Amino acid sequence: MNLYAVILAAGLGKRMKSDTPKVLHEVLGRPMLQHVIDAVKQLKPVKSVVVIGNGAEQVKEKIGGEGLSFVLQKKLLGTGDAVAAARDQLKTGTALILNGDGPLITTQTLKTFLSRHKRNKNTLSFLSFTDDSLSGYGRVFRDASGRVTEIVEDKHASDKEKRTFNELNGGVYLIETKALRHLADIKRNSASGEYYLTDLVGILSRSGSRVDAYNCPPEDIRGVNSRQELFEVSDILRKRIIWGWMDRGVTFINPHTTVVHTTASIGKDTILYPNTIVEGTTSIGRNCVIHAGARIADSFLGNEVTVKDSTLIEKSRIGKGTSVGPFAHLRPESIIGKNAKIGNFVEIKKSNLGDGTKASHLSYLGDAQVGSFEQILSQGYSSAVILSS
Ligand code: UD1
Ligand code: MG
Repeated sequence: MNLYAVILAAGLGKRMKSDTPKVLHEVLGRPMLQHVIDAVKQLKPVKSVVVIGNGAEQVKEKIGGEGLSFVLQKKLLGTGDAVAAARDQLKTGTALILNGDGPLITTQTLKTFLSRHKRNKNTLSFLSFTDDSLSGYGRVFRDASGRVTEIVEDKHASDKEKRTFNELNGGVYLIETKALRHLADIKRNSASGEYYLTDLVGILSRSGSRVDAYNCPPEDIRGVNSRQELFEVSDILRKRIIWGWMDRGVTFINPHTTVVHTTASIGKDTILYPNTIVEGTTSIGRNCVIHAGARIADSFLGNEVTVKDSTLIEKSRIGKGTSVGPFAHLRPESIIGKNAKIGNFVEIKKSNLGDGTKASHLSYLGDAQVGSFEQILSQGYSSAVILSS
């Protein structure tokens, strides 16, 4: 079975009221589109096609991944038209179509979805969820026997229909590529002027093809159309990550004010105080204490490191047992050895401080080598520059 992925990322994202294309807005430090691509990648599709349009060049520049192809949707005429733009790229097989504005999707949910689609030999399947507090999603209509008959967009459904049908479309579909010829049967919606991909559900259901929706938790498929939803989705992902680290033995004094990016890692028995931010590819060792107000980006911290309050650490390395802060700033390429002490109001840039070094207060160290002579010689330097505060 050939699996193709099609990710829709061309839309205007009007409701975001932004100059940045919607799919590039970041959810925990990564564009939301990148989250979708990463979740799909592990299913190893033979090809992944990203449909771009609004801000196409910007999206191409920011988004990466092996084997991605980009297709341009010339006029933004809706999700049905977006899939039509990608159709030439797909051969016989199954197409996994996802909205690029649903960054919570997980590989595990997609795997289960794929196996249900295959097991039931469906022509079209999609993920649905139920949450009465949400609006703006397509409504899944079913007949008396429970068969899916169509999807009606929220804005086109009557109040009565909304009361009757509270199952929502998650914007993740599996469709046998043969059936994509029916994209041509989608009529332009007279109210919005768009071709809705969701109309394919009604078209295929009426033609007697097997169509079904599989319920999954809202935490997996919430979409982002507004800044409020961007926050809500980021918060769901933030909690998912932090609760995962708690499972692995990390203490969070106040998890509600702590941010840990998906690409960061934290060792067992480390404690994070409130208002701490762990960004990018940061790796924190075991038994560390990260005090309030610290931000650590793309850095490596060994075991038993203490980061005191209001400290910023960027692209740096800190050895075992070292203490940094309060109010310290490690700028990129600072390498601090073991059992060192970087104290109050010390700024360090592109410097190498050997084991046991102390820079206790009010100093700047830039492009410097500080530490034991042996250590410096072993690193290939012929003389040592020793700075002290
Ligand atoms: C869509 C679904 C809705 C579903 C919801 C889930 C349709 C008609 N409606 O609504 O049933 O509940 O997602 O989140 O599909 N896009 C393009 N080209 C376009 C228009 C959109 O590539 O011409 C892309 C957007 O960039 C976005 C995705 O398609 O990533 C979905 O578009 P959006 O406008 O957000 O659709 P919703 O109104 O959220
Ligand atoms: Mg959307």
